[in-house]
Amino acid sequence: MSKFDVIDRISLFNLLRKGSNFKKMPHELLEKKIIKNKEYIPYYFNYGRIALYYLFKELRAKGKKRILFPAFICPNIVYSAYKAGCEIYFADVDVETFNIPTEVLERFARKVDIIFIVHTFGLPYPMTTLDFSNIIVIEDCAHSIFSKVDNKHYTGNFGDYVLFSLYKQTPNLNGALLLSRIHCNFNFFLKKDTINLKRLIFISKEFEFIIDEYRKYKELEVPKIKDDFNAKMPNDIVFSLFEEGFKKLEDEVKGRYKIAKYYLELADDFGLKYQIILKGSSLFNFSILVDPKIRDQVLLTLRRYKIFCDRTWFNIPAKYGLFNLSIDKFPNAYYLSNSIINLPIRSNYTKEDVEYLFMKIYDIIKKLKNLI
Ligand SMILES: Cc1ncc(COP(=O)(O)O)c(C=O)c1O
Repeated sequence: MSKFDVIDRISLFNLLRKGSNFKKMPHELLEKKIIKNKEYIPYYFNYGRIALYYLFKELRAKGKKRILFPAFICPNIVYSAYKAGCEIYFADVDVETFNIPTEVLERFARKVDIIFIVHTFGLPYPMTTLDFSNIIVIEDCAHSIFSKVDNKHYTGNFGDYVLFSLYKQTPNLNGALLLSRIHCNFNFFLKKDTINLKRLIFISKEFEFIIDEYRKYKELEVPKIKDDFNAKMPNDIVFSLFEEGFKKLEDEVKGRYKIAKYYLELADDFGLKYQIILKGSSLFNFSILVDPKIRDQVLLTLRRYKIFCDRTWFNIPAKYGLFNLSIDKFPNAYYLSNSIINLPIRSNYTKEDVEYLFMKIYDIIKKLKNLI
């Protein structure tokens, strides 16, 4: 039986064996033609939200401060814009794609200076159907390396600014790459980040068993909005780990697409709703929607069986008083935030693995429903 965990692990032993040969990330993204435009300028940061904070500040200084976000999004991203002094607008999302419908985006585009597009959970946003000529586009590819728009163009080739994460699709400590079509005045010298030992142990195969025994009984996390904008250059180990992970990612994404057909079949058989999949999806995860009344209990019970899932983004920005937003204006984002369960999907899963996963989910839901 395979492991079911949204967190990917690496072997510390292999890492230590590599010793001091760590080298800075080469231009894999260009080599693999993920990014076709060689003129993009790369900027590395410890975290994506910090990269975005400096980008938002820079855009604001140029008078570009009205920015549109999908209402179903990571609150830290929006907090970066808020702290940078931007004017924040939201649009509700569709419950099948988890993203802003294109006609809504087009309407909003007339009212704002910047649109922030996320290829949420690897589902490519239909960039080619839109005219972006008079607006600044920030393209967030944190979940979508190797996703293809129209199953043809890699995500990351459409934005004026493009964000990649070095640690979300491959196991790593942290790290973000911001690409810009023009020079940015991030006129500070970044100190190299230290190694976050806690995180290193958390993602290591060697400690996996002990950590999972603990995680089995852990309550659900409620992370606070991160109020730290201390920009650092990723540690060399981050580049090295990304290089390792990136080599395997293309095949991993292809493999996930193949196995996804069982997820779709079983989700339909069990009457579960889910985020649609397109040819070209990178399948960061497979997200299902369950009754909000039992969602958290389903997640906790799955943990007892060592099936570790997520509930991204249960903490949508509208749930925070900060942005002066009424939840009623974004019913779909609110519904998604309360019903989502992100299931792990891996290329090495078999049909039997997927059946086991869905049977467990189905049994748990059935039992919990009988109790309410
Ligand atoms: C889609 C997306 N982009 C960017 C970020 C910010 O990335 P980081 O965790 O590197 O700050 C997040 C945060 O989880 C995210 O979900």
